[in-house]
Amino acid sequence: MGSAVTHEAGTLEPEAVRGMFDRIAPVYDLMNRLMTAGLDGRWRRRAAAQVVWPGDRVLDACCGTGDLALEAERRGGRVVGLDFSERMLERARRKSGTIEWVQGDALALPFPDSEFDAATVGFGVRNLEDLEGGLRELHRVLRPGGRVAVLEITRPRGLLRPFFRLWFDVLVPFAGKVLPGGQAYTYLPASVRRFPGPEDLSALLERAGFAEVRYDLFGGGSVALHVGARPE
Ligand SMILES: C[S@@+](CC[C@H](N)C(=O)[O-])C[C@H]1O[C@@H](n2cnc3c(N)ncnc32)[C@H](O)[C@@H]1O
Repeated sequence: MGSAVTHEAGTLEPEAVRGMFDRIAPVYDLMNRLMTAGLDGRWRRRAAAQVVWPGDRVLDACCGTGDLALEAERRGGRVVGLDFSERMLERARRKSGTIEWVQGDALALPFPDSEFDAATVGFGVRNLEDLEGGLRELHRVLRPGGRVAVLEITRPRGLLRPFFRLWFDVLVPFAGKVLPGGQAYTYLPASVRRFPGPEDLSALLERAGFAEVRYDLFGGGSVALHVGARPE
């Protein structure tokens, strides 16, 4: 994929990640619905409900086509959605004219310290070249007492594991092959495989400065929602 240098299995250079999301933007929402049997909307609603209170200034980082930012707005937040893929943002802009959509890098957020009351990231941190750096950036832009929610795919343990492997390692990449821009869906399983499990992600959030970190699992243990707070 041109300059798409893979420097570790499941890891792409930021430019390659951006190009990949630019290409899959037209099918992104449809693939989400298909891959999750329509449950992804419920998971985003739960993420926003955990951290957004009416009147909050909210950052949705790696906002993509904007669905989590929209949930934050429905909770009464005054929302900024940030993403580095212009094609994904184009789709987001069509969904809301009241959310402020910003093109930018989650690893170098274009906002001052302590700017937001809450921050959300949906299925985004897995793509960051520097996960810890990204979590530190979220911490920096939250005010003391501000809250973070990180929604991400994780690998289930136990009985569901073989079903997940069939679904995620075989069927999703196959669907990707027959859809335009589908390379993302062959990268997806590898990126989940290398991503820290829920306990390790909790530890990384704490290392980035967050307190009161806890998580819930949804989708038979295939999706984790972590929440935490910047200490007062
Ligand atoms: C899987 S999509 C998630 C979109 C949306 N949050 C959702 O819930 O569906 C991941 C998004 O993260 C964005 N992204 C990845 N790395 C980024 C970075 N360093 N800075 C900004 N956006 C980034 C991609 O462009 C893509 O739109």
